[in-house]
Amino acid sequence: MDGAGKLLGLGVGPGDPELLTIKAARLLRGAQVVAWFAKSGKTGHARRIADGYLAPDAEELRFTYPYTTEFPKRSDEYRDAMAAFYDDAAERIAAALDDRRDVALLCEGDPLFYGSFMYMHDRLAARYAIEIVPGVTAMAACWSRAGLPMTRGDDCLSVLAGTLDEDTLARRLKSADAAVIMKVGRHLGKVRRALDRAGLSDRAVYVENGSTPDERIVRLPDMPTDDSPYFSLVLVPTGRATS
Ligand SMILES: C[S@@+](CC[C@H](N)C(=O)[O-])C[C@H]1O[C@@H](n2cnc3c(N)ncnc32)[C@H](O)[C@@H]1O
Repeated sequence: MDGAGKLLGLGVGPGDPELLTIKAARLLRGAQVVAWFAKSGKTGHARRIADGYLAPDAEELRFTYPYTTEFPKRSDEYRDAMAAFYDDAAERIAAALDDRRDVALLCEGDPLFYGSFMYMHDRLAARYAIEIVPGVTAMAACWSRAGLPMTRGDDCLSVLAGTLDEDTLARRLKSADAAVIMKVGRHLGKVRRALDRAGLSDRAVYVENGSTPDERIVRLPDMPTDDSPYFSLVLVPTGRATS
């Protein structure tokens, strides 16, 4: 639409507010409307990170994820409920854009890396101008905090989702030079077994809430429990020695 506002997909980094880029901070301070996703009853990780950067008079649009625990994640019902939720969020953003206001959508880490922002991009990119500001990814923050050289020379890095089944994880890990396993949370037990099968447990490092005051970094074999929060990942650095 002519004269419509612009959608800004702002990567706000993984937790430490100082890991937000200067560009994201500048755009955020000037944003008239700030939108963000959050689980029910929670402040929202991206909103918390951005707290010190919002203009005092910014209008906020909160999108609260629906309770979908009654549906299995791969079911049609779950997919339909999430699609309806994202349709509604996109239309609320579109209304503000039609009103000639820019909307800054806060994205934890990088917007285009496993981010809900992509669902807004899918729905709105054909109709509105969109500017995306990259963010520091969780994995980069976590390997920096852990001080782990991840890849050397012609190593290839595999990024895997902890939600995969154990056989697939084990198979992909066996052929990986170095790996990151995202979305560990309640899948930690399965992730451990897959790493064991791939012979990589000794190299694996577990990080939860990386770059925040609640950060925990521990070699995976020394992690005493499988009780792990949503904001957790496992790093497997290269086995290649320094030259
Ligand atoms: C939906 S993905 C979002 C990824 C994000 N867009 C990025 O660029 O890293 C959420 C997953 O990212 C990882 N994650 C995000 N923030 C993290 C943090 N501070 N510490 C550890 N893992 C984190 C966890 O694996 C979590 O399950």
